[in-house]
Amino acid sequence: MKANNDDCRGLTRRQLLGLATLTSAGLAAASVGVPEAKAAPKPGEQHEPLEDFKHDLEGSEGWVGEGGSAKESTVKQLPVATSIAGVSMRLKPGGLRELHWHAIAGEWAYVVKGNVRTTVISPNGEAAQDDFGPGDVWFFPKGHGHALQCLGPDEAHFILGFDDGHFSEFGTFSITDWVGHTPSNVLSQNLGLPESAFANFPKSEAYILPGQVPPAAAQEPLRQINQQANQSPHKYRLDASPALEFPGGELRIVSQKEFPIQNTLTGVTMLLKPGALREMHWHPNADEWQFYLSGRARITIFGAHGRTKTAEFGPGEVAFIKQGFGHFVEQIGDEPTKVLILLKSPVYEEINISTWLAANPVAIITDNFGITKELVDRLPKKSIVIAAKIDSSSSA
Ligand SMILES: [Fe+2]
Ligand SMILES: [Fe+2]
Repeated sequence: MKANNDDCRGLTRRQLLGLATLTSAGLAAASVGVPEAKAAPKPGEQHEPLEDFKHDLEGSEGWVGEGGSAKESTVKQLPVATSIAGVSMRLKPGGLRELHWHAIAGEWAYVVKGNVRTTVISPNGEAAQDDFGPGDVWFFPKGHGHALQCLGPDEAHFILGFDDGHFSEFGTFSITDWVGHTPSNVLSQNLGLPESAFANFPKSEAYILPGQVPPAAAQEPLRQINQQANQSPHKYRLDASPALEFPGGELRIVSQKEFPIQNTLTGVTMLLKPGALREMHWHPNADEWQFYLSGRARITIFGAHGRTKTAEFGPGEVAFIKQGFGHFVEQIGDEPTKVLILLKSPVYEEINISTWLAANPVAIITDNFGITKELVDRLPKKSIVIAAKIDSSSSA
């Protein structure tokens, strides 16, 4: 007979509560059939292989128009990525991503290059206009109306992240689509112009269209004079924020704590020096979406039942790691690797294997691995996070 603790393995919470109730009522546990342990490994049991977790976003076909282009990564292209979708968008100088909103998703963005101006309206009438450059982040909560325009002088490129993997950039609620499908008598009554004034409005969605480069320095005034001031900034300068430095690289993290309006996601940029290792870790509260900005790396995920899966990533490719799945990232090549990361929670959480092992008594670790105390003493006593390249001459 195993110890009681072992007997509880595999019981559901409801079964455990039932057991506690019966015990407290003076009934012997013998009257409760203890189900077969489910959490314990069973030799020979078959498990589904881990799903593919890679999509070549930049290598995919997208939408191309006169004012810009867009490519997307949703559950259609990467079925495992149910909670986060991504878009790579480019706008030519003056190019306008028209006034629109997203019914099912909040929008996060990181500017890779160029300059972009956003306008946004919140449900309580606060309006904002902000200019963004490389390394800056914006966030528009679900349903807020917004538009994007490239300020020039060069093309702007930015990566958009949406907090729902089923979101498609090609099914947004655009103002031309709505107006173009509304009777002109309704438009006339609503907007106070004669019906004839709407004859030349677009009849279908414009999406991205060429436009005039707006004034570069001063912001244009909004059409409404007494606009309420914006109370919750949509802009966060991620690359201008202080980095967390580690031997093998650095992290910049923006959670809701630093950027209050960003209420569904956490954004991260990770820089890995050549040969570095983002250590074995997992995120207890969040799925993880990665976009490779530059350099190469190899990710290995761990999904229990002896299942691991490895894939290699380079610029323009997307990775998705499910909540709670173990993973590590090995940098590849002589150039540093820069990765944009989104986590599907406004609160940042991670557990690193080095921290975990340091947070246990020596005896537990010796018993768990069957190793000597001397070896345990050589394990890290604090978090590694990003390990530097191993000097092969000293790693005998
Ligand atoms: Fe949008
Ligand atoms: Fe991670």
